[in-house]
Amino acid sequence: MKKKYVLVGTGGRSSMYLEAIAGDFTETAEICALCDTNQTRMDHRQKLLLDKYGIGPVPTYKAAQFEQMIADIKPDTVIVTSMDRTHHKYICRAMELGCDVITEKPMTIDAEKCQQIIDTKKRTGKNIIVTFNYRYSPRNTRIKELLKSGIAGQITSVTFEWLLDTSHGADYFRRWHRNKNNSGGLLVHKSTHHFDLMNWWLDSMPKTVFCMADLKFYGKENAENRGVTEFYSRVRGSEIAKKDPFAIRIPEGSLTEQLYYDAEHEDSYYRDQSVFGDGISIEDNMNVMVRYENNTVMNYCLYAHAPWEGYRVCFNGTKGRLEFNVVENPFVNSDIVEDFATPGMRELMTDKKTMVPEIIFQPLWGKPVEFTYEVKNKSGHGGGDMLLLNHIFLGAENDPLGHAAGYLDGAKSILTGIAANISMKTGQAVNVKDLVQF
Ligand SMILES: NC(=O)c1ccc[n+]([C@@H]2O[C@H](COP(=O)([O-])OP(=O)(O)OC[C@H]3O[C@@H](n4cnc5c(N)ncnc54)[C@H](O)[C@@H]3O)[C@@H](O)[C@H]2O)c1
Repeated sequence: MKKKYVLVGTGGRSSMYLEAIAGDFTETAEICALCDTNQTRMDHRQKLLLDKYGIGPVPTYKAAQFEQMIADIKPDTVIVTSMDRTHHKYICRAMELGCDVITEKPMTIDAEKCQQIIDTKKRTGKNIIVTFNYRYSPRNTRIKELLKSGIAGQITSVTFEWLLDTSHGADYFRRWHRNKNNSGGLLVHKSTHHFDLMNWWLDSMPKTVFCMADLKFYGKENAENRGVTEFYSRVRGSEIAKKDPFAIRIPEGSLTEQLYYDAEHEDSYYRDQSVFGDGISIEDNMNVMVRYENNTVMNYCLYAHAPWEGYRVCFNGTKGRLEFNVVENPFVNSDIVEDFATPGMRELMTDKKTMVPEIIFQPLWGKPVEFTYEVKNKSGHGGGDMLLLNHIFLGAENDPLGHAAGYLDGAKSILTGIAANISMKTGQAVNVKDLVQF
């Protein structure tokens, strides 16, 4: 029998779920209603389902009518893809009203809301899936297999560097994510993926966290200190923005224009704010030290204005060292920035290959060995999205590596970032056990 789904939060991320239910998973799933604070975005999604898949018109409910929607539709599962700050409200209320939940990361943004989710889950006995698509990416899965095989022995320490480039990284500073109250900052909003990977790879969870982090690049004051004198608040209608390589370019007729420019009259959600404006309360350079329950220690850093995007992870073990180098985007193509590139540099920049092998293991006494992996589909996040969707909509019975993630994984993945947020304020290390009771 088909399961009935409703979805809350009809912005960019909702596409993956709506198109999956309406496309590849029609035999097991049915989308029955949409909910959001913004009617224009819901109407857009409703039209997509109707025009592209012949489904609907699916009823739409404003956020204040969430309970009415549950009463009318009686869904099996609520999919939560709204702004991070609101996740806990929908997760908890959905479970209280008898529904299971599929939620986007981060499960929530602070310890209090996390506790509320844990308590409600235990009280209601309903199920929560947290959609950690990075786990499913074939290369990240290969690392899990290698570590599980014991090739590197016991992992004593890890260095983990994640770079967000001046396109993707900058995007977190253009809209709601830039306000820590909405997103928990990048150490929660973004790093929940990275900390989840590390918990999963190490089969452990954080014990003690220490962090130093700052806003050093984005924001008006930082730009002023670098000598910038011309500012604008948003791209739309700004002449100054035309000279700023960090300004988002939203093409006419694009999906982004329809979802955001066409909808902004309802809620003043401006998708194109200047990254060099005032009022940014998140960090762009973050350094975190974590001791895990299994005694591994990790040095992690994230920065959000890198010239290329990707990550490097090195696992130091009692039998050798496993290195993992991923280039997701080798450079950022800005018309303005590219003018400065010499032809030789351009050639280098378009070479998508890493200078070093992606996955390499060096035993303590012997030659390095390179490992490969297979990408079986072209879906997002290195082919991970489709594998995740299969688990969600067809079931995760066959899951030898434990890809499927529930509320405990969701909680453990945000606790490093939540602890780091406390640590960067107090200057003290934080015991994760003091934050929530499982
Ligand atoms: N796993 C991934 O790779 C990935 C990628 C992108 C986004 N996400 C997650 O998906 C979620 C949505 O991100 P997005 O990029 O689609 O953002 P978005 O801003 O495009 O969409 C968010 C939607 O939530 C709605 N909303 C805001 N407040 C609401 C409320 N109180 N009640 C109901 N709806 C509300 C907004 O109107 C908007 O339509 C976030 O939690 C984000 O972390 C995950």
